[in-house]
Amino acid sequence: MKYPLSEKYNTPELMAKIMGPNPLKLEEELLTGHRIPAGAVVCDLGSGQGLTSVFLAREYGFKVYAADLWSDPEENRIFFHEMGLTDDQIIPVKADAEALPFDKEFFDAVVSTDSYNYFGRNPDYLDEKLLPFVKKGGYLYIAIPGMKQDCHDHLPKELLLSWTPEQMDYMHDTVYWKKMVSQCKGAEIVTVEEMESNEEVWADWLKQENEYAIGDRKSMEAGGGNYLNFIKIVLRKKF
Ligand SMILES: C[S@@+](CC[C@H](N)C(=O)[O-])C[C@H]1O[C@@H](n2cnc3c(N)ncnc32)[C@H](O)[C@@H]1O
Repeated sequence: MKYPLSEKYNTPELMAKIMGPNPLKLEEELLTGHRIPAGAVVCDLGSGQGLTSVFLAREYGFKVYAADLWSDPEENRIFFHEMGLTDDQIIPVKADAEALPFDKEFFDAVVSTDSYNYFGRNPDYLDEKLLPFVKKGGYLYIAIPGMKQDCHDHLPKELLLSWTPEQMDYMHDTVYWKKMVSQCKGAEIVTVEEMESNEEVWADWLKQENEYAIGDRKSMEAGGGNYLNFIKIVLRKKF
């Protein structure tokens, strides 16, 4: 597919901020035809170093809360200012997705790219930890790295070149994720489907010279990518 919005961010400085396969391209595909109104208050859940949050604020006109556990919100704030965004447009927050520090029904929508698989693998997570903070009728758009078919009991050797079985446990197929989110009582499933983006988002990541990208090259060069995909999950909180 074509990525006219993400291409604008394809500079070495900005790509140095990605923390995995190009999250902007994933987000652009995830949000194609989305139903979140401009000006909506959106939580970028697991926003990392904030590149996806900048993208949501600048390209879609959302007011974004960049919520993340591992990154430093003050470093992210400096980056947001450098990108020409104000404290009214984008707000960095240190937050654990398991204990979000927001008012109930605060968000019009949640967008989460390459992070939901860390905390969303619990059937009670949505009802207990995330949906309370979303307005009724609000959307959740989630893009995660996945597997074409779950194979945790016979992991291919190509994948084990870069990841341990414990790390592979963060990745699952669409069947697993459909089953996981269908146990949620408070939201209806709009879709759970394999994404089109795959090779091009990996290519952008494997070009990076950080230790994680370099480590991932071993598996991908040996053909590990044949077992992997990205998965789009869209949910709507019930009225
Ligand atoms: C691979 S990075 C992706 C970051 C960003 N979305 C991107 O694509 O550039 C995964 C992110 O998930 C976040 N994360 C993991 N567990 C989390 C939790 N319990 N609450 C909030 N964020 C979490 C980490 O802080 C990390 O920044």
